[in-house]
Amino acid sequence: MARVWGYWAVFFLFTAPALADPSPARQAELRDMVSQDCGSCHGMTRKGGLGSPLLAEELAKFSLEAIVETILEGRPGTPMPPWKTMLSRDDAEWIARYLMGEAQ
Ligand code: HEC
Repeated sequence: MARVWGYWAVFFLFTAPALADPSPARQAELRDMVSQDCGSCHGMTRKGGLGSPLLAEELAKFSLEAIVETILEGRPGTPMPPWKTMLSRDDAEWIARYLMGEAQ
């Protein structure tokens, strides 16, 4: 029985986001953040620098959820910091879609 609930929890974890897009004002802040803050390592044009390129074709190999997790939790042992104190899951998901070219 517990196992069944576990499956439901996983199901909700993967389907529940995307319901709440950040407000237009917040989206403008997030766009600035991607070019300024993320850009300091990944490049203003996201072609890479200290951090790997964040171009849609590079990110296509990851699932959206994996990108969201990387943004929120960082990559331990690498310079990629966790952003969860500054970004909500909705913010991170919007950024992931923005990087993938699925949000403007
Ligand atoms: C201090 C430098 C730094 C900053 C700032 C930074 N990153 Fe990173 N990021 C990295 C590094 C280095 C990696 C590669 C980690 C590795 O070797 O696995 C990375 C990896 C990633 C990845 C995984 C890509 C891949 O191909 O493995 C994503 C997605 C990502 N960063 C998004 C972001 C976003 C979004 C921001 C801004 C909110 C950001 N990063 C800010 C350094 C940074």
